[in-house]
Amino acid sequence: MHSDVERIIYSKEQIENRCIELGKIVSEHYGEETPIVVGLLKGSVPFMAELCKNIECDMEMEFMDVSSYSGTVSNEVKIVKDIEGSVTNRSVLLVEDIIDTGKTLKKVKELMYHKGAKDVKIITLLDKREARVCDVQADWYGFEIPNEFVIGFGLDYNQKYRNLPYIGVIKKSAI
Ligand code: IMP
Ligand code: MG
Repeated sequence: MHSDVERIIYSKEQIENRCIELGKIVSEHYGEETPIVVGLLKGSVPFMAELCKNIECDMEMEFMDVSSYSGTVSNEVKIVKDIEGSVTNRSVLLVEDIIDTGKTLKKVKELMYHKGAKDVKIITLLDKREARVCDVQADWYGFEIPNEFVIGFGLDYNQKYRNLPYIGVIKKSAI
């Protein structure tokens, strides 16, 4: 375990097993359809990789990078890197590491519909439901977690710890 980690809340094995279950659910949901699976950089990368290994239906992979910032009136999302293909009349599956306030995913979901997607679903590794301020929900999630700051499996603190193969709570001394 990394010396900055206070405790592990989900191990590598638990995450891998959950991704097998989620992969099955997603594959059954889409069936003969070919969804465009859109990972939000950078946090979703490890979850995206683990999940996609377990998706058995045909799918396309895209990545998008957005940064959210609080304006005076509403929260805005700036597109740092957009997807490359068209989503017109396609089913889109947004992949996130965590839904916290929900602001990012609410905006990205709206954006996908604006681009012409016929259906937009959300899958997230972690759901921090207590912290939600927007009316956006995950269609599927790996684990629900309390309102605590976590790192690992894509989740960072100041860009560090994304490579940890588990999800843990960071030590106060590391912040
Ligand atoms: P939201 O728009 O508040 O839902 O923001 C979600 C984003 O906040 C995630 O994609 C993460 O980048 C970040 N985030 C929220 N909670 C945590 C956490 O506990 N650890 C690391 N990053 C987090
Ligand atoms: Mg993120």
